[in-house]
Amino acid sequence: MSCRTEDLLEFLLTRRSIRQFKPDPVPDEILLKVLDLSRYAPSAGNRQPWVFIVVKDIEVKKKLAEIHRGATPLLGAPVGVVVACDKNASPVSYQVDCANATMYMLLAAHAFGLGAVWLQALRNVEDIQKLLGLPESLIPVAIVALGFPAEKPQARPRKPLEDVTYIDRYGNKLPT
Ligand SMILES: Cc1cc2nc3c(=O)[nH]c(=O)nc-3n(C[C@H](O)[C@H](O)[C@H](O)COP(=O)(O)O)c2cc1C
Repeated sequence: MSCRTEDLLEFLLTRRSIRQFKPDPVPDEILLKVLDLSRYAPSAGNRQPWVFIVVKDIEVKKKLAEIHRGATPLLGAPVGVVVACDKNASPVSYQVDCANATMYMLLAAHAFGLGAVWLQALRNVEDIQKLLGLPESLIPVAIVALGFPAEKPQARPRKPLEDVTYIDRYGNKLPT
């Protein structure tokens, strides 16, 4: 398969966090492909310390949204995925590894025309572990709400490149 560069750039620039979803279910074959692609994220030493907990039960979604108020998009999403990471398998990098898998999940969802939003899990690790029956070593790093988008949000503003880029040493700005 070959993709034109401009198509790939447009793909990256058109991803948005989606928080409003159509009620239509996500077909299992698409969900499995999204999860399958998430496994291709880079991880330190290729340890792949992630597990994915698919959440479809509305009661579990409600409890997650009670645990973290910012997780309310989950209530209208046909499916949620909790990305949890084995801190023993990758003690230095587990959060970064799982962030990579989560980002791959958001991009894979976008590729299939699904909407998705990353919802914070790291503030409520113990409550989420208890709810999902995760052992102490598996740290929930992200909750992803997934479904067909029912909104088209504007792009959120980004800091200018020159405000976040330096050459050789912090403080040395790009030449203007
Ligand atoms: C680590 C992390 C935690 C986030 N937590 C939440 C959250 O709890 N609730 C929410 O609605 N969005 C959450 N977001 C989504 C961000 O608000 C969103 O990515 C950001 O505003 C940029 O918008 P965009 O994704 O549409 O470009 C989170 C994103 C990240 C990376």
